Amino acid sequence: MKFKIAAVLATIALGLPAHADGDADKGEKEFKKCKACHAIGSPDATIVKGGATGPNLYGVTDHAAGSVEGFRYSDLLVAANAQGIEWTEENFVGYVQDPTEWLKEATGENGRGKMTYKVRKEDDAKDLYAYLSSLTE
Ligand code: HEC
Repeated sequence: MKFKIAAVLATIALGLPAHADGDADKGEKEFKKCKACHAIGSPDATIVKGGATGPNLYGVTDHAAGSVEGFRYSDLLVAANAQGIEWTEENFVGYVQDPTEWLKEATGENGRGKMTYKVRKEDDAKDLYAYLSSLTE
């Protein structure tokens, strides 16, 4: 509930459409590629069982980069967090297609991100964003 209100307020504040332009159903299938490293778990339930190499992605589309408590992020993601970078659709879509390069450009820092996987197609990235945002609507 807290997430939902925050998302609605953010949407009003930024004047952006409430729905992402990807297809959430396709994104759910696409998420199979992320499961090896990422689980999705809300405070009350496990939505997708997955690995722990990467942070829990529940609510990721509503929060600041690098803000899952207890996860040890790379210096680049810590820098992104300190700079107030958030996972808007645009940022998310750029990041998942080339995590390290995107973080370097966005933060102006040097280093290596810990996520080695790259999503090949921009449309797949948009579908993933739609799927992940649908979980907290
Ligand atoms: C090989 C393991 C691996 C795979 C596969 C993987 N990730 Fe990641 N992901 C990570 C790691 C590790 C991090 C933390 C990166 C860092 O600290 O630089 C991360 C971070 C992220 C973040 C930032 C989260 C935050 O809390 O700021 C997002 C978003 C993300 N991944 C999305 C995805 C999506 C979507 C997929 C599937 C297309 C995917 N990842 C596949 C390992 C992976």
